Amino acid sequence: MKGRIPQAFLDEVLARTDLVELVDSRVPLKKSGHNFSACCPFHNEKTPSFNVNQDKQFFHCFGCGISGNAISFLMEYDRLEFLDAVDDLASTLGMEIPREAGTAEVPVSSDLYDLMSEASQYFQQLLKKKADGGKGVDYLQKRGLSGEVARDYGIGYATNKWDGLLKALGGSSDRQQKLVDTGMLIKNDNGKCYDRFRERVMFPIRDRRGKVIAFGGRILDQGEPKYLNSPETPIFHKGRELYGLFEARQANRKLKNILIVEGYMDVVALAQFDITNAVATLGTATNEFHLQQLFKVVNEIIFCFDGDKAGLAAAWKALEIALPLIRGDRLVRFMFLPDGEDPDTIVRAIGKDAFVEQQNQAVPLSQFMFKHLELGNDLATADGRSSYVARIKKLLEKVTDPVLKELLVTELGERVHLSTDQLNQAMKIEKSKVQQSTNRISGKPKTITPMRMVIGLLVQNPTLAKQVNDTQWLEHVSQPGAPLLKAMLEMLHSNPHLTTGALIEHWRGSDEHRQLTTLVSWEHLINDTEKVVTTFCDSIDKLFTEIKHIRLDDLINRQKQKLLSENEKLELKQLLSGSF
Ligand code: CTP
Ligand code: MN
Repeated sequence: MKGRIPQAFLDEVLARTDLVELVDSRVPLKKSGHNFSACCPFHNEKTPSFNVNQDKQFFHCFGCGISGNAISFLMEYDRLEFLDAVDDLASTLGMEIPREAGTAEVPVSSDLYDLMSEASQYFQQLLKKKADGGKGVDYLQKRGLSGEVARDYGIGYATNKWDGLLKALGGSSDRQQKLVDTGMLIKNDNGKCYDRFRERVMFPIRDRRGKVIAFGGRILDQGEPKYLNSPETPIFHKGRELYGLFEARQANRKLKNILIVEGYMDVVALAQFDITNAVATLGTATNEFHLQQLFKVVNEIIFCFDGDKAGLAAAWKALEIALPLIRGDRLVRFMFLPDGEDPDTIVRAIGKDAFVEQQNQAVPLSQFMFKHLELGNDLATADGRSSYVARIKKLLEKVTDPVLKELLVTELGERVHLSTDQLNQAMKIEKSKVQQSTNRISGKPKTITPMRMVIGLLVQNPTLAKQVNDTQWLEHVSQPGAPLLKAMLEMLHSNPHLTTGALIEHWRGSDEHRQLTTLVSWEHLINDTEKVVTTFCDSIDKLFTEIKHIRLDDLINRQKQKLLSENEKLELKQLLSGSF
């Protein structure tokens, strides 16, 4: 379990993020009056009903009802988990997520990153020393890798010593422990530490910010395992990283597309031939998370696979993962290499231009899907066509983008010679329903009680909090909403600059969050600032009176039963005399 993120940190991230800029980078916005607007990216529409309000740092779609702050937007649009959305915003701002103390997880301390950077320096230096790194240099030369690329990718060398890194970096027991935590040292049953990586060419794996978080070590020539990778550590989760992504972004101001290849050597060999857009997964299949990460950077992903049976199977798996993520503006293509070759060997054999030409010929996902299934179904027969349609239907169900889905249905129709209507009938494809989510509540609150009015106006205009100095009167109140109002007021008193978006973040995941979200988008038609203030103050007065009466009734009732404490007796006296 990860530790909780301190609320103050979330406040700061939201204060420093501009929702308009964030949304605009994904969905181009137009200024319209006070708001910015666009056609909603979460449902299919022709006229814009998706609005982003800069002051409130809040978005809302009048069509499908989706709404929220910058974190919610990333969660929905990039389909991220909460922590990843926060991490994304934070790293854009150059901030690191702190964890609150007292939680189960070891805090991800910057020490671990520093040690990994030292380790990377250490391996790189060894590669440069003839006495230590000679074997490594020989190996890389034999494979045709240039010194320049080795430098750009920070490639290094681990000697055959059992205590090379241990002696060089493990100066104290604290540092030794941290080197164990990062997987660089292994501790045996007797508590003795030794180097994990020995006599290997070392590929540092960098995260999105360029920090070294792990290594892949290739054995010289033959032996097992061919590649030894860092284990999972507090700073390295192999299913979430892509080798070469940082370097690709460094080498290109604006990446057009990204090529996914299989291995470290493929990435660096391509880079040597000035093909600097390749990344590799770390010995795992490409997963949804990888694709989401890449689609944040580019709109086109090209998978590069072996042309053999295993390559085809891997490509099919990749297709199934990609289907839910593709949209009209997101392309996925497939490139198949001749049997027995990989990008490293091919590019060395045919050179850059021919390789790029092949990359340009990569087949679009839809074509791969249609063609691949045609192989098993004879479209000249009715049976063949019907089982073909059934299989495609299953796949198209995964497509979430309604426009793209329709295009694919049309294309399928052409292939099996059916009209779109006939086909829709046959496939009963429902118009892609907007995903249900707790954020999507549309409509108005049912009745407008003073409590609702006060909370609604306050969440929409957090500066109103300064109109109410005292929150004492909300203390013993059983009325629904009272604890929420009290908490909001107190939060805003100590933190007067919170925007709407940042304010509601404090309730994420609770019922209150749902209520507040509804109220943010509530159109009460009180627009001018002065009227907002007077309506708010009037409602507070009404609420105060209401609460006073409820309290008075309660105290009188309990007085009859002789249940009042001394303090309550005093309170009752004050209430009756009207001086409270
Ligand atoms: N891999 C791994 N562990 C292994 C073998 C492979 O983690 N024991 C991962 C590595 O990330 C490697 C990728 O799978 O880069 C592809 O493996 P493979 O095709 O066997 O190697 P190549 O990349 O072709 O490496 P080389 O050219 O050095 O043989
Ligand atoms: Mn290879």
